[in-house]
Amino acid sequence: MTNAYIRGTGFHVPDRILTNADLEKIVETSDEWITSRTGIKERHIAAKGEAASDLAAAAAKKALADAGMEAEELTHILVATVTPDCYTPACSCLVQAKLGLTHRIAMDLNAACSGFLYGLEQARAIVALKPEAKILLVGAEILTSRTNWEDRTTCVLFGDGAGAVIISGEPAPGTGSGRPAGRILDSLLCSDGSGADLLVISGGASSEPYATGQVVGPSHYIRMKGQDVFKLAVRSMESVCKDILARNGLSVDDVDLLIPHQANSRIIEAVGRKLGVAAERVFINVDRYGNTSAASVPIALAEARQQGRITEGSLVLLTAFGGGFTWGASLVRF
Ligand code: UT7
Repeated sequence: MTNAYIRGTGFHVPDRILTNADLEKIVETSDEWITSRTGIKERHIAAKGEAASDLAAAAAKKALADAGMEAEELTHILVATVTPDCYTPACSCLVQAKLGLTHRIAMDLNAACSGFLYGLEQARAIVALKPEAKILLVGAEILTSRTNWEDRTTCVLFGDGAGAVIISGEPAPGTGSGRPAGRILDSLLCSDGSGADLLVISGGASSEPYATGQVVGPSHYIRMKGQDVFKLAVRSMESVCKDILARNGLSVDDVDLLIPHQANSRIIEAVGRKLGVAAERVFINVDRYGNTSAASVPIALAEARQQGRITEGSLVLLTAFGGGFTWGASLVRF
């Protein structure tokens, strides 16, 4: 099987920052509550008219530059998102157009906060089938388009952003930036629809279509049973990380950097603790971006590479958990 490599990363977040102090003016909350319960201090919020494809295209350009590649070279465009610009066309088609391309294979995938890891496995499968493929994979979200600003239990959690990677096959490519490329060693993906109601956005979709003129209700926005999701997130990410390490004959001591989905610093710390990964080997940036769903892992990956936290030989363990439920883990050797 042809090995697949991550040869470029990039991310983009909107300019506008919403701090916890700003949120204190919108709902009954406090910087103290948000910080102590979630670790989040601020998040980036899209401007009016800014859509997921805008963030995705900006992140894609940075990932292409990092890989030392031109957009022209891309063969596939994959976008993981739960907040696409519209039902149709797919966000990936719009990203294609914004990159000045046509005639590529473009498709969206929805696995909520695990979407990027699902996309990574799709990309690895494409490279196995078509070794010449050059794939853009983006996680992009405007979660604030589905945020209920009257619900303090959810509105303090989410942010907007996009993270992108460029993936291609052997021979092991260099990268434009000189940073090492990362071989995707393995991915382990899971899902379970029986807890669908614990984390859901349903209003306006086919189960709850809106009538013309109907007032948008709370179901139009993200609804979540936070405590239940918290426990499942910790348990699922811990177990999938243990399983993927075991089936690759690796131990937690081999992991140089754990990059978990950035939903809540308490979840991230609990997963690190349960796995036995030292805190300095666990990547956290939820304090500055909040939960950006499918964008969170690729933003964290790009930022970790940018900060020099990933060097030649680093073994990186990515893990995520999200609506569906979906969860998974991927191992990448740089
Ligand atoms: O990305 C997909 C995965 N998503 C997640 O992993 C999120 C998982 N869940 C969580 O991160 C946490 O459950 C939350 C951050 C959402 C909530 O934290 P918690 O420690 O589970 O709080 P809680 O829901 O048990 O609420 C505790 C109290 C409640 O008040 P009472 O009933 O004890 O009087 C809430 O009403 O905190 C109250 N509360 C707030 N207070 C101030 C809830 N939200 C807020 C708020 N500000 N924003």
